[in-house]
Amino acid sequence: MVEVLRYDVLIIGSGLAGLRAAFQAALTSKSRLRIAVISKLHAMRSHSVSAEGGISGVLYPKENNDSIELHAYDTVKGSDFLADQDAVEILVKLAPEEIKFFEHLGTPWSRLPDGRIAQRPFGGMSVPRTAFAADKTGFFIMSTLYDNLQRFDNVEFFHENFVTSIILENGLFKGVTAIDMAAGEYRVFLGKAGIIATGGAGRVYSFVTVAHSNTGDGIAIAYRAGIPIKDMEFVQFHPTGMVPSGVLITEAARGEGGYLVNKQGERFLKRYAPQRMELAPRDIISRAIMTEIKEGRGFVHDESGLEYVHLDLRHLGEEKTNERLPMIRELSRKLIGVDPVSEPIPVRPAVHYTMGGIHTDTYGQVILDEQRTRIPNLWAAGEVASVSIHGANRLGSNALAECAVWGRLTGEAAARYAMNAPDSMLQISTAVDTAVKNEEKRIFDRLLHTESNPENPYDIRREIQTMMDSLVGVFRDQRGLEEAWSRLKRLKERFSKARVENRVRIYNNNLRDFLEIDFMLDVAETIVVGALNRTESRGAHYRLDCPKRDDVNWLKHTLAFYRRGEPPYISYAPVRITRWAAEERKY
Ligand code: FUM
Repeated sequence: MVEVLRYDVLIIGSGLAGLRAAFQAALTSKSRLRIAVISKLHAMRSHSVSAEGGISGVLYPKENNDSIELHAYDTVKGSDFLADQDAVEILVKLAPEEIKFFEHLGTPWSRLPDGRIAQRPFGGMSVPRTAFAADKTGFFIMSTLYDNLQRFDNVEFFHENFVTSIILENGLFKGVTAIDMAAGEYRVFLGKAGIIATGGAGRVYSFVTVAHSNTGDGIAIAYRAGIPIKDMEFVQFHPTGMVPSGVLITEAARGEGGYLVNKQGERFLKRYAPQRMELAPRDIISRAIMTEIKEGRGFVHDESGLEYVHLDLRHLGEEKTNERLPMIRELSRKLIGVDPVSEPIPVRPAVHYTMGGIHTDTYGQVILDEQRTRIPNLWAAGEVASVSIHGANRLGSNALAECAVWGRLTGEAAARYAMNAPDSMLQISTAVDTAVKNEEKRIFDRLLHTESNPENPYDIRREIQTMMDSLVGVFRDQRGLEEAWSRLKRLKERFSKARVENRVRIYNNNLRDFLEIDFMLDVAETIVVGALNRTESRGAHYRLDCPKRDDVNWLKHTLAFYRRGEPPYISYAPVRITRWAAEERKY
């Protein structure tokens, strides 16, 4: 018998968006609802704890010559005009409230001499508006929030429960299937309302800043359930992944004054973004670095052969580096034996963020079809969602702001829905029962199957990642994308013959990896097909064969719909423009 757990609100994922949603759902329901947070990892190992540089929000408009409108404009321009502007307006209006909310919970911000929250410059932001806690902002916000959540008796954590599928019935969310990793038991969670907050999909690439857990699970389970996935061709490369590991060197290093320098000792950004230099948006700086490398002005790493440029922080001085960038100094010293106080750090662009994701409306409610039918009791928040405020290119520090704002909005909306929903929603129908059994079979057949010469899933994972690095990177073209598409089809075919060797039930991490790789294949498919179809260059999607932005034909969002055993069905949705017409992007 499969264990069935029933809750009013199910929150899938425990990063910043998930925890913020749990907090708001608990507040809204005044302890009347039972709320479950289901997480593949222990909540405090969610990738939000690795966020370094800060969270955006206008705190000091007069002093900083800033405004809510300027933050919105910067975000829209940064997005290469693909962001939905009504959503951006919500982000910038609520972000300052969220920073203050975290302040009231006790976040140990870095501060100005008078005790107020300090703000630093970030790429693409016209003025300093990124609040921070040294270079460990995500860790400090997450621990503060997680500590505070312990006071709600009605919020239960299911750490290390890996969600494998989402169940919809007649356009309504019913629940999810999961594996409790510690017990090795398959179980079902039923909920009156759900929020998907499982983070991004950076691990479909190999040179990345993100955790091994970022395999796009939430995107894949929604996609398989028939929910459209939006704008996946827009994959963000962070300009400064440490060489050779890809570990993030925060943009705050440049916000605090760091330089990017090529082999000739030149601050080359003067040729790409003369006004903003190292504080141009990430898409522009990543392309600049790759161009320097391609044209022979990069360095070569002895062991890995990776090419790179230098991030030079030496002029910042030891005191400032210790105060503002202590983790960067520690990581550089420990991982590569480079002390940034006396030597430059080797860096190159690394995959960092998934701009695309689950198609939602402005408030994070999940959309089911081309007619914009909403699923009444399902929301998505944070990196897994495409609301879309980042469009074709996200500005640094807008991600934590998004997680907080849409965590709050979706937590409140889900709680309100659940408070008015009958308990009969938690009954198991025949259709749900069938879905649960089919999923159990899909998972455990792979464990029990004995086939000679099965494919090794880890070979397939490595091939997905290296193929995505080489063919769907900072620069793309039709030939490479077609090659990626045909290789992906072959990898899917091979994966159908892959098996899990390890038969244990308790902490079967091989089984988890196997299911993740299956998800990664679907996620990669949405990226490759979206990129192949979009015959223009916009934000992070740069086609060498179509180097111009084409607003006449492509000022629209891509939607990918899952088709079992076939290429996805691709459709498009308009961009919502409220105030800012598309213009040439200069920095
Ligand atoms: O560079 C960073 O600290 C990353 C920030 C972000 O992606 O928002």
